Amino acid sequence: MSTAQRVLITSALPYINGVKHLGNLIGSQLPADVYGRFCRALGRDTLLICATDEHGTPAELAALEAGQSVEAYCTEWHGVQKDLCDRFGLSWDHFGRSSSRQNKELTQHFARVLWHNGHLEVRTTRQVYSGTDGRFLPDRYVIGTCPHCGYDRARGDQCENCTRVLDPTDLINPRSALSGAADIEIRDSAHLFLKQSAFAGRLREWIDSHKNEWPNLVTSIAYKWLDEGLQDRGITRDLSWGVPVPDDIADGKLKGKVFYVWFDAPIAYIAATKEWADANGKGEAWRSWWTEGKANDPLSVRYVEFMAKDNVPFHTVGFPCTLFGANETEQPAWKVVDHLKGFNWLTYYGGKFSTSQKRGVFMDTALELLPADYWRYYLLANAPESADSSFTWEHFAGTVNKDLADVLGNFVNRVTKFCAARFDGKVPDDGRYGDEEVKLASDLDVRVKQYTDYLEALEFRKAVAELRAIWVVGNEYLTRAAPWTELKTDRARAAASVRMGLNLVRLFGHLAWPIIPSSAVKILATVSETPAIVPWPHAKMGAFLSELIPGAPIQPADVLFAKIADEQIAEWQTRFGGTE
Ligand code: 2FM
Ligand code: ZN
Repeated sequence: MSTAQRVLITSALPYINGVKHLGNLIGSQLPADVYGRFCRALGRDTLLICATDEHGTPAELAALEAGQSVEAYCTEWHGVQKDLCDRFGLSWDHFGRSSSRQNKELTQHFARVLWHNGHLEVRTTRQVYSGTDGRFLPDRYVIGTCPHCGYDRARGDQCENCTRVLDPTDLINPRSALSGAADIEIRDSAHLFLKQSAFAGRLREWIDSHKNEWPNLVTSIAYKWLDEGLQDRGITRDLSWGVPVPDDIADGKLKGKVFYVWFDAPIAYIAATKEWADANGKGEAWRSWWTEGKANDPLSVRYVEFMAKDNVPFHTVGFPCTLFGANETEQPAWKVVDHLKGFNWLTYYGGKFSTSQKRGVFMDTALELLPADYWRYYLLANAPESADSSFTWEHFAGTVNKDLADVLGNFVNRVTKFCAARFDGKVPDDGRYGDEEVKLASDLDVRVKQYTDYLEALEFRKAVAELRAIWVVGNEYLTRAAPWTELKTDRARAAASVRMGLNLVRLFGHLAWPIIPSSAVKILATVSETPAIVPWPHAKMGAFLSELIPGAPIQPADVLFAKIADEQIAEWQTRFGGTE
């Protein structure tokens, strides 16, 4: 891992239409936030960027259905999504919009540079036109059988079963996803193509250079693409909603057409950074996040992307081709991703979460049931990293009840309440740490390092397992030290272990902040700490666990985590269904 002190982090941009489900959340936004918080805790100059992905047909059609203009629809849903992000503790430096002026300008800029550098060409394509629907059908609104795997509801842009990118004319038995009509005809239409095939060698070298560092999931998808031979890609569409193709490209032959949503969406990572700079009076500062520094430049940026596996092709082929192509003439060069973290699927009882069928748990309803941290913890503890993982209500309740309520919450309550009752609500100042405490500190040195390393390596499941193990070590220490018994015979010994217990509470607050930020803030308030950014414990544990000042006030928290009762599980299973 590089030690760059500036870290740029992007999460895949959620589509504007509709509330995202827990599978979407754990597939990009939540882990991006955790890593962003971790970097900030370490004191790194961190920029955490997300935005809504607003172009394309889904937004157009959803607006039509809602009886709104597409602009009004997008503005409304951007607000809804931003609010949900806030309530989930997703701490973006900027949550932008792909429909922004900045993205229009940058997308047109990249297209002009690519055109100028000879990487785009006009081709007459055969587009699907639906007589029944009276319009050209965008790729994803043509469905049919995947020629590669035989899945019979493959979309014309990508088969969600085998993840291959498709062209609608590849589909067997194509039909309109809007009307189901099969009266579709093929009409000629001129479009811009990005000549990706020319970049195959360059891309392979680039992927090779990261193959020991990036998840196997990511590199294997990238290699599959390269091995199959890169196809040139159409980057414009016959739609009205999107970034218009400028007239000065291809002598105005593309007038009235817009860029394909997958061309402008990744550029919106850059544009959202510019939005951030514009909104915060930072002028040209956005550029330094997106341009390559010289080797060993202390200002150089490490760029980390988070996404689910279906997005990997667009980020290992499409977007890098845009940047490589532009970089032939752009100075300084645009940054390409340094670390790409991809996720498998979170399933709902082994099946798909489905936005259209409302199957599974969505961000808004999740927060009606329980606070964000319950979800954050569970999702990260079961992040679909090496394989898909499955959400079940039983597993969710079991994890919350054991890890959060019994192990963490109970520890914090036991120690702080005992201190309030028996030590006047102040950090005890008598008694010295002995062998037990020295051993505890050295155990924790190893574990905290391991936890730190897992977060740095973006291994979220392992990180959370290690965090839980740290909580368990604290509990075991307290059980052995038993200050409630010791108090009767050896007050100094009891005082030392309560002081250690309180220092452990503080440590748990610091370590838990990236994962469960609101709870971490509550935990730290019990030992009278209220930092806005909770710093990472850099010190050796022997020192860190002595930092609470004797005599400092302690304020026990109310119950930190309520247990989920069997009746609630049963009720939610019925309400959300799909469990059989
Ligand atoms: O799959 C999705 O949800 C897309 N909206 C992700 C876009 S990521 C980026 F390129 F903008
Ligand atoms: Zn397929």
